[in-house]
Amino acid sequence: MENFYCYLAFFLSVVFLVIKLLHSHNQKLPPTPFALPIIGHAHLLKQPLYRTLETLSSQYGPILYLKFGSRSILVLSSPSLVEECFTKNDVIFANRPRTMAADHFTYNLNSPVWAPYGHLWRNLRRILTVEIFSQINLQKSSIVRQEEVHSLLRLIFKVSNRGPQRLELRYLFSLLMFNIMMRMVAGKPRVGEEAAASMDVGKQQLKEFRETYAAGLSMNICDFFPILRWVGYKGLEKSMIRLQRKRDKFVGVLIEEIKQKKASSSLNTTTITAVEKKRTLIETLLSLRESEPELCSDDVIKSIVLLMFVAGTDTTATTMEWVMSLLLNHPDALQKVKAEIDSQVGHGRLLNESDLPKLPYLRCVINEALRLYPVAPLLLPHFSSKDSTLGGFQIPGGTILLVNAWGIHRDPKLWEEPARFKPERFEAFDGEGERFKFIPFGTGRRTCPGAGMGVRTVSLALGALIQCFDWERVGMERVDMSPCFEVLLSKAEPLEAVCSPRQSMTTILSQL
Ligand code: HEM
Ligand SMILES: *[C@@H]1O[C@H](CO)[C@@H](O)[C@H](O)[C@H]1NC(C)=O
Ligand SMILES: *[C@@H]1O[C@H](CO)[C@@H](O)[C@H](O)[C@H]1NC(C)=O
Repeated sequence: MENFYCYLAFFLSVVFLVIKLLHSHNQKLPPTPFALPIIGHAHLLKQPLYRTLETLSSQYGPILYLKFGSRSILVLSSPSLVEECFTKNDVIFANRPRTMAADHFTYNLNSPVWAPYGHLWRNLRRILTVEIFSQINLQKSSIVRQEEVHSLLRLIFKVSNRGPQRLELRYLFSLLMFNIMMRMVAGKPRVGEEAAASMDVGKQQLKEFRETYAAGLSMNICDFFPILRWVGYKGLEKSMIRLQRKRDKFVGVLIEEIKQKKASSSLNTTTITAVEKKRTLIETLLSLRESEPELCSDDVIKSIVLLMFVAGTDTTATTMEWVMSLLLNHPDALQKVKAEIDSQVGHGRLLNESDLPKLPYLRCVINEALRLYPVAPLLLPHFSSKDSTLGGFQIPGGTILLVNAWGIHRDPKLWEEPARFKPERFEAFDGEGERFKFIPFGTGRRTCPGAGMGVRTVSLALGALIQCFDWERVGMERVDMSPCFEVLLSKAEPLEAVCSPRQSMTTILSQL
C-alpha cells in the first residue's frame, strides 16, 4: 500500500511537471511558424521583407518570433506592443545588432546609429542633439537649406522658362540633399551649379558619390548566418574594406582642408566673427574637441560626418519623391497646397522656413506620404540586451527586434481606408494619444534625431517648388507608385514631371 502511494505521488508529480513544462513552454515564446532545422524560417522570408512580415503577422498575430540562421527575430506590428516595447522596455531594446556593415563602416561602432546602447552612444547622441539638431543650430543651418533651395529654383527656372520642361525629379531632389549636407559639413556644395545644370554631368558625379558615401546601413545575409562570413562571402567583406578606405580618405581630406583654413584664418582677427556665424559641422566638432578631447576623437568626427550622408540624404530625398508623386496623382491636393501657400505667403517673396508653421495642410500631406511610404518600413533593427516580457511573452536577451511600421501604417483596424491618400486625416490626428500608430521616425530613445530637420527640408523645398512652378504629370497616366525596397523604400521608377514657371513668380525667379 505504501508503495502504491509512493508510485501515485511520483506519477502525479511527473504529470504535474509535464503539464507545467508544456504550459510554460506555450506561454513562453511568442507565436512562431513551423521552423526548418538550421535555416529556421529563412524559407518563409521572401522579398520584400516588410510585406512578407505583414502577411505572417496577419496569420500569427501582432507579435511574432522567428529564427533566421543563428539569430532570433521578434516582429511587432501593433501600436500597443510598440508602446510597451519602447516605454517600459525601452532600455532593454535600445541596442543594435552587430552587423558586418557596421563593423566596417563605423570606425569601431563609433557611430550614433550603430553604437551599442551605453556611455558611448549617449555621448555621440548628445553631440548630435546639441551641435546639430538643437533649435538654435537648426536656425543657424536654415540659411544653407535656403540658399541651396534657391539654387535649385534657379536651375529649374533656367531650363523651363522658355516653355514647359520635362524634369527628372529624383535627380534634382538627390542633388539638393547632397549639396545641403556637403555645405553643412564642409561649407561647399557637392556638385557645382554648372555641373548640375548639364544634367548628365551632375547625375554622374552624384551617382559615384552616393555609391561610395551613402552606402552602409543595411544588414546582409552574413549577419544572420555568420558562418558565411568565413566561407562564402570573403569577397563582400573585401569590397567593404576597400570602400571604407576610400570613404576614410575622403573625410580625412575634408577635415584637413578645414583645419588648414582655420589655422590661417586664426591669424586674422577680422575674419573670425564671420567664420563663427557660418561655421561648418567639421569646425564645430574640431572646436568641441578642444574642450572635450577624449569625446571627439578623429574617428568620432569622421563617423559623424559620414553619418550625415548615410542617414540624412537619401531618406529625405526619397520622402520628397513620394510626396511629389502623390501630389501629381491627386491634383486636388496639389491645388490645395498651392492655395494655402498663395494665401499665407503670396507672390511678393519666396517662401522661407519661418512660413512653415503657417502651412498646416502641407504638413498633413507630408505626414500622409510618410504614413503610406515610410522610407524605413521596418525602422532600423534593435537588439535586446537581456531577457524581458512583452505582451505576456518571454523574450530572450539577444533577440533582434523589427517593427513593421509599414504594417501598422496600413492596418485597417487603425486607419479608415488605409490605402487611400487622405491628408485631411492628419488634421484630426492626436499626436500624443495616437503616436504609436504613426512611427515613420521610430520612437523611444533611439528614435531618429534628424526628424525635425528632415521634415523642415522636405517642407521648404516642396513648398518653394509649388509656390514658383506649375507641376504636371508627363502623360495622361498616373504616376506609377510601385515601391522597391533595398536599403530604403523608394519608388521603383524615378519620378519625372513637367514643369513651367508660374506667371506671378517670374520676376522673383529671374532675380534669384
Ligand atoms: C525624412 C527623413 C528621415 C526619415 C524618414 C528617417 C527615419 C529614421 C528611422 C526610421 C530611424 C530608426 C529609428 C529606430 O531605430 O527605431 C532613424 C534613425 C536615425 N536617423 Fe533618421 N530619418 C530621416 C532623416 C534623418 C536625417 C536628416 C538625419 C541626420 C542628418 C538622420 C539621422 C538619423 C540617426 C543618427 C539615426 C540613428 C539614431 C540612433 O540610433 O540613436 N535621419 N531615422
Ligand atoms: C584678413 O582678412 C581680410 C578679409 O578677408 C583681408 O582683407 C585681410 O587682408 C586679411 N589680413 C591678413 C593679415 O591676412
Ligand atoms: C522669412 O521671410 C520673412 C518676410 O520676408 C522674414 O521676416 C523672416 O525673417 C524670414 N525668415 C527666415 C528664416 O529667413
